[in-house]
Amino acid sequence: MTTLDSDAFVFFGATGDLAYKKIFPALYAMVHSGALDIPIIGMARAGWTLDKLKQRARDSIQQGGNFEAACFDKLAALLRYVDGDYTDPATFTKLKQTLGAAARPIHYLAIPPSMFSSVVQGLAKSGCAQNARVIVEKPFGRDLASAQSLDRTLHEVFAEASIFRIDHYLGKEAVQNLLYFRFANTFLEPIWNRHYIQDVQITMAEQFGVDGRGAFYEEVGAIRDVVQNHLLQVTALLAMDPPTGHEPQAMQAEKLRVFRAMRPLDPKEVVRGQFAGYRNEKGVAKDSQIETFAALRLRIDTWRWSGVPFYIRTGKCLAVNATEVTVTLKRPPLDIFDSGADLPANYFRLRLSPEVVISEGALVKRNGEQMCGEPVELVARHHPGAEKSPYERLLGDAIRGETALFTQDDSVEAAWRVVDPVLNEQTPVLEYTPGSWGPSAANEIVKGEDVWHDPGPEKTSPC
Ligand code: BG6
Repeated sequence: MTTLDSDAFVFFGATGDLAYKKIFPALYAMVHSGALDIPIIGMARAGWTLDKLKQRARDSIQQGGNFEAACFDKLAALLRYVDGDYTDPATFTKLKQTLGAAARPIHYLAIPPSMFSSVVQGLAKSGCAQNARVIVEKPFGRDLASAQSLDRTLHEVFAEASIFRIDHYLGKEAVQNLLYFRFANTFLEPIWNRHYIQDVQITMAEQFGVDGRGAFYEEVGAIRDVVQNHLLQVTALLAMDPPTGHEPQAMQAEKLRVFRAMRPLDPKEVVRGQFAGYRNEKGVAKDSQIETFAALRLRIDTWRWSGVPFYIRTGKCLAVNATEVTVTLKRPPLDIFDSGADLPANYFRLRLSPEVVISEGALVKRNGEQMCGEPVELVARHHPGAEKSPYERLLGDAIRGETALFTQDDSVEAAWRVVDPVLNEQTPVLEYTPGSWGPSAANEIVKGEDVWHDPGPEKTSPC
């Protein structure tokens, strides 16, 4: 452990869903790899005991498979539990006692943002915020105004450098790979601009629905849930200029510049959809206008991207489970071989999940006397993906004080500024059939310039 590392990990919301699905498995994986050996203090107001929390942790890890009793025992030995109301100063006095000699705790607020203020104030008044870091989750606010207000709440106690905002997409291997591919190679940069790129598409398709999270989803919808954060983050990595310098701040500065250059969305260029049957989900209003699908056109007003559309599409209950970026290049200036538009233009395909694939679509001559072509894909990278989970990576980084994979106040606010005009049901919500590619009106978004490139099943070997 270095003097920069946090020396206790406190997580609020220890009995909740996020703890069960993500936090316990990540802590277990860190203990397993030897990366975590500090007290772990679960906080909740559920009337639980430490034994009950340990049982919950055990269930969560067993559920994910790969359970080793000896490793779990190590994790269990680090666990502590503090029960109490977050508005009661006594809860924080108990936390302070439980922290004991720990001098640099990290507090993870895995709780609804409406509780941030009392927790942050409780931490400050009890002395638990001293030399401390704080981790917060998305959704960070529900629009620009509420995000600004949350930032003010956090900044009353924590400096921006001590705030770690999680967008788990930034912890994904595939998303890291995207950044690496762009800036570790020479051949991309000369063509990565409006002169050679026709359009960029990002599709995040999920085959499942809202999985019992109807009440949560009613408060957000697809644009708040994944566009404002995950998909705009991916867009920023695709569109940013190369950073100057190795510091995380250099990368963050370039991302911020591109977020600020994104034009606020035009409601006329957004199609919202809702899968048939959504309104029968538990916790969903019978007349819900919340979108489970969104397709949109984003414009980035920079020298590099002016006039190049960035199309973003996401939805629940779609045809496949896959997240994929397609960067389509312009065609050659002359069609020397009379190929017409039947053959595809060159493209890069960056598949982010479920596999990690980088490939380039090109044309080659078909065997025979005629100068006829056929499309091929040159696969640069393909692996099925069995790396660290994003939460394991991000929580480890936060404990070590490494900020590179976290989002900052200014860029989160800039991203809200982009989506703000299309929140609050500004556009109609159109029904679509589960298992389809969303409402057909989504085709209007790309019409005349391209078609949607639907991610298909992945081939396992290069052609
Ligand atoms: C979450 C959203 O942030 O990301 C979910 O709330 C979505 O609705 C999930 O399903 C997708 O993340 P991943 O890592 O499973 O692709």
